[in-house]
Amino acid sequence: MLNKLIANVLPYMPEKLVWVFSKRYIAGETIEEGILGSKLLNQQSIDVTVDLLGEFIQTMDEALDNKNKYLEIIERFTSEKITGHFSLKPTMFGLLIDKETCYKHIREIVELASKKGTFVRIDMENSQCVDLELELFRKLYPEFPAHVGLVVQAYLRRTLNDLKELNKLNSAEYPMNFRLCKGIYIEPEKIAYKNFSEVQQHFLEDLEFMIQNKMYAAIATHDKFLVDKSLEMIEKHNVDKSMYEFQMLYGVTPDLRQSIIDQGHRMRVYVPFGKQWFNYCTRRLKENPKIAQHIIKALFVR
Ligand code: FDA
Repeated sequence: MLNKLIANVLPYMPEKLVWVFSKRYIAGETIEEGILGSKLLNQQSIDVTVDLLGEFIQTMDEALDNKNKYLEIIERFTSEKITGHFSLKPTMFGLLIDKETCYKHIREIVELASKKGTFVRIDMENSQCVDLELELFRKLYPEFPAHVGLVVQAYLRRTLNDLKELNKLNSAEYPMNFRLCKGIYIEPEKIAYKNFSEVQQHFLEDLEFMIQNKMYAAIATHDKFLVDKSLEMIEKHNVDKSMYEFQMLYGVTPDLRQSIIDQGHRMRVYVPFGKQWFNYCTRRLKENPKIAQHIIKALFVR
């Protein structure tokens, strides 16, 4: 109840106040701050995946601008020798306005990434985008198999089936690379599991499918139960270290993160930065009021 209230009130609060409790989840507004945040993580043996904030744009001029910004980000981060790669949200390039131009923009970004020997992950957005984002990946993977990956969401009823379909294109030489997460958007029960333990169970089922079919698994969760179960599964199937990693969001559960690193597993942190942080934070809160708990906590724990 309180969470919902806060989530509804937040968009009307002054930016400065929202920043007080958002700042621990965002590296900053500028490329320089993104680079600095990434370097600090690299110094702790943590790889990054860098994300420029922004999504669901209104005009294709914004899409072009965002493409140019990503090209600059890839140039800057690679020349600074940051250990990591890049994540992007296709609606930032006009996925829901003009999917062909969106594809061309993302292709150009992935092409630059491939020239620089790095990697671009296509984030998965809400359910209206899932088919389109799968289609994007299916088009890009044959051309850039080592340089592009996708996210899959365990809460969607369709996900295991999507993985089975994608597996038909999987190559032993260039294993498909998926980030597996629970899923952040509010989706209807018809298409998404709603029960907490049901989502956990499907997360593990999807992970096992990925492992058994020699896909690269980026295990993105802060849920200790899932981390422990994933570690058991990695051991059970004797998964090589080159075929999986753990991922967490910037500023979230650093102790659990460190314990995974201490056990010798690769960790990558999602580093969001950019001027669009206010919309990003308030939209996330409206979509998932449970996150308000973390924000309230952040108000008191500095
Ligand atoms: P759960 O929500 O149960 O969290 C477990 C514990 O982690 C909580 O009890 C709390 O302690 C802590 N925690 C979790 N989130 C927190 C937060 N924001 N602040 C503070 N503490 C927090 N989703 C999506 O739909 N598309 C995508 O592309 C991505 N991409 C993505 C990348 C990466 C690297 C991660 C880690 C996550 C995503 N997600 C995502 C989000 C994901 O779907 C999911 O909503 C969150 O990770 C929360 O789910 P958990 O598995 O962490 O469990």
